[in-house]
Amino acid sequence: MGETDDVLRFEVLGAQHDQSRFESGVEPLDRYFQTQAGRDARKKMAAPFVLLLEDGNIAGYYTLSSTAVRLPDLPAAIVHKLPRYPLIHGTLLGRLAIDRRYQGRGYGRFLLAEALYRAVRSEIASIAMIVDAKDECAKRFYERESFLPFLEQPMKLFRPMVDIVKLSE
Ligand SMILES: CC(C)(COP(=O)(O)OP(=O)(O)OC[C@H]1O[C@@H](n2cnc3c(N)ncnc32)[C@H](O)[C@@H]1OP(=O)(O)O)[C@@H](O)C(=O)NCCC(=O)NCCS
Repeated sequence: MGETDDVLRFEVLGAQHDQSRFESGVEPLDRYFQTQAGRDARKKMAAPFVLLLEDGNIAGYYTLSSTAVRLPDLPAAIVHKLPRYPLIHGTLLGRLAIDRRYQGRGYGRFLLAEALYRAVRSEIASIAMIVDAKDECAKRFYERESFLPFLEQPMKLFRPMVDIVKLSE
């Protein structure tokens, strides 16, 4: 696994974790993690997962929840393979961030891969992983990982679950 050899494990965010020192450099992502992620988890608004290093430090986190997508918002090449339901269901990657101290070591890609495989393993059907990129920089990060833009919503990206299934086979 190369640069991610020192990663210990992923865990569901819980009371045993200390989010107070987490700093990605993007204030809304840090504030969310420190003040809201735990509450969202308890209320079933989102499921936060943390990437822990051997020393117990939190290297990164992401959140997943279910979401709905309008068929006409997806590119025609995807839509023509689908039944004409007005709304289809996807998995929202609400937030994803790596602590500044650990950026550029492959952890972001590792975190994203784990989020994709977690969604694929779920027994709850989902057409795609969906993410709202907060800026061009984040958009490039997701495009590198084969995410495609929604029609007329260039900052909203998706990756079909069937593609992820193929990778995991
Ligand atoms: C964006 C972020 C998740 C990437 O995680 P990371 O661990 O630093 O990235 P990785 O080391 O896994 O690199 C994965 C790929 O993303 C690219 N990448 C890394 N940081 C990036 C950034 N800030 N913007 C765009 N691409 C980035 C890397 O070059 C790499 O691609 P390559 O192998 O083709 O060169 C992380 O830097 C982060 O949380 N940043 C703060 C939050 C944020 O969204 N920042 C601004 C927008 S990118």
